[in-house]
Amino acid sequence: MEKTYLMVKPDGVRRQLVGKLVQRFEDKGFQLIAAKMFRMTREQAEYHYEEHKDKPFFGELVEFITSGSVFGMVWQGENIVALSRAMMGKTNPLDAAPGTIRGDYALNTGNNIIHGSDSPQSAEREISNFFRPEELAAGDYPVRMPGS
Ligand code: PPS
Repeated sequence: MEKTYLMVKPDGVRRQLVGKLVQRFEDKGFQLIAAKMFRMTREQAEYHYEEHKDKPFFGELVEFITSGSVFGMVWQGENIVALSRAMMGKTNPLDAAPGTIRGDYALNTGNNIIHGSDSPQSAEREISNFFRPEELAAGDYPVRMPGS
């Protein structure tokens, strides 16, 4: 079953959006298999955003993501990487459609509420940066969708 790493960023945590965001992904039919509230270390942040290390915003991004608690989650479900990113909306809230998380809650690219892995390979790498394998639940409860 495909997995992804979703993370409520410090702005989303400060705005008390964790519950609403978890609810959206549960309502969609995805299964939460690990979650924790924690403060990211600088090392974890630099590894997490390594592909952006030459971008002008890298320093600002690391400062922001380590500025407060984040809520990191591992979710699983069919096509979850692509579907969760569609639910998040475009990175820049100016381009994010209403109804998406960023379209509904975010004002600018720096403070855009949520992160989601961009491929199953990134998900594996990101999950292992924040969770030990034994922290992942088996995901063995049946998800009941309407009509099932
Ligand atoms: S790029 O250049 O297209 O590869 O980057 P992008 O995918 O748009 O963004 C990568 C992550 O960097 C964040 N970002 C920023 N943070 C702070 N300030 C500025 N200006 C900025 N621009 C981009 C963006 O929110 C992405 O974070 P994640 O957590 O991956 O969504």
